[in-house]
Amino acid sequence: MESKQTSIMQKEIFEEPVVVKNLIEKHITQEGKIDIELPEKISNIVIVASGSSYNCAALACPLIIEYAQIPCDYEYSSEFVLQKKHFVTSDSLYIFVSQSGETSDTLNALKMIKEEGVKTMCITNAKNSTMWNLCDYKILSDAGEEKSIASTKALTAQIFCSMLVLLKILQNQGEDISGYINTMRRLPSYLERIIMGSENIKHAAQTVSQYENISILGNKNYYPIAKEGALKMKETCYLNVMAYPFGEFMHGHVAVLNQKSIVIAIIDEENASFAQRNLEKIRKNYNPKIICITSVQDVKAGDENIFIKTKRKMKAIFGALLTLQLIACTVANILDKNPDSPKGLTKVVKD
Ligand code: AGP
Repeated sequence: MESKQTSIMQKEIFEEPVVVKNLIEKHITQEGKIDIELPEKISNIVIVASGSSYNCAALACPLIIEYAQIPCDYEYSSEFVLQKKHFVTSDSLYIFVSQSGETSDTLNALKMIKEEGVKTMCITNAKNSTMWNLCDYKILSDAGEEKSIASTKALTAQIFCSMLVLLKILQNQGEDISGYINTMRRLPSYLERIIMGSENIKHAAQTVSQYENISILGNKNYYPIAKEGALKMKETCYLNVMAYPFGEFMHGHVAVLNQKSIVIAIIDEENASFAQRNLEKIRKNYNPKIICITSVQDVKAGDENIFIKTKRKMKAIFGALLTLQLIACTVANILDKNPDSPKGLTKVVKD
């Protein structure tokens, strides 16, 4: 994708296929086994994180419940530390997700729960960080140094690692995970294709840059992705972008569309008819500009449609995330904001 000047953020987004490829080589054996360390027995999981890392937690948790049938909860680190009691059993696993491994809120949460003697794990991009050294179990997200304040490749790596955790649990449960492994192995080339064919993403970014009232809609696993897209645009474009689950949006929030607005909708096989029905209502009542990011080729519900074609949810999640990251980075560029030095933000948030 061409731009006025290549930002560090854009460079790091472009590294995502290689980051994922390296993680596959490191943690998936030739025989298709997941090679990470986890406790043998897990009664319940709690994932704690902030910012983009929280969006990883919010994505991973429902997947763990749905596929592994293990109770899972997730919480903002800053809220977790305010909670006086936490649910702990001898087989609970508390997972802390952090790019830096040093974010104060997450670190305080980790120290707090360690006092209960619970098993802890971190997914972090920083080997030998404080979190890394404090946790019993650890996965290095291995995205390489992330310089951009707006996290991109590190989040993709974290999400991939959280899926490794899920697959390792399924493997320990005796499930056949070969289908998921095949999907994961195809992920780098899928991401590469999205980057190569990003002309329509650039066009969508041109359109988005003309709006100040932006709503990103996504269901289930795509809602955290929608939230991440909104966070990226806030950080890099200073726009007050909001994310909503499709259905919930219709419960009053939709009134924001009475202003000049744009809606970005994430659509996959599972929610396609539900999403299209809601988009029809939205168009009829408010007629905003609509951009669809869709993994289903025949869904053309938007004024502009970005196809991230795949039948596999595991791939579509990463494709939608990558697309929103590219849109945010490009909109920042168009609006003459430097995504590499967002005003008032620091890479690591400390007390
Ligand atoms: C992401 O783009 C942000 N810069 C920020 O939300 C970040 O994800 C958050 O502060 C958590 O950081 P961590 O992953 O290093 O703990």
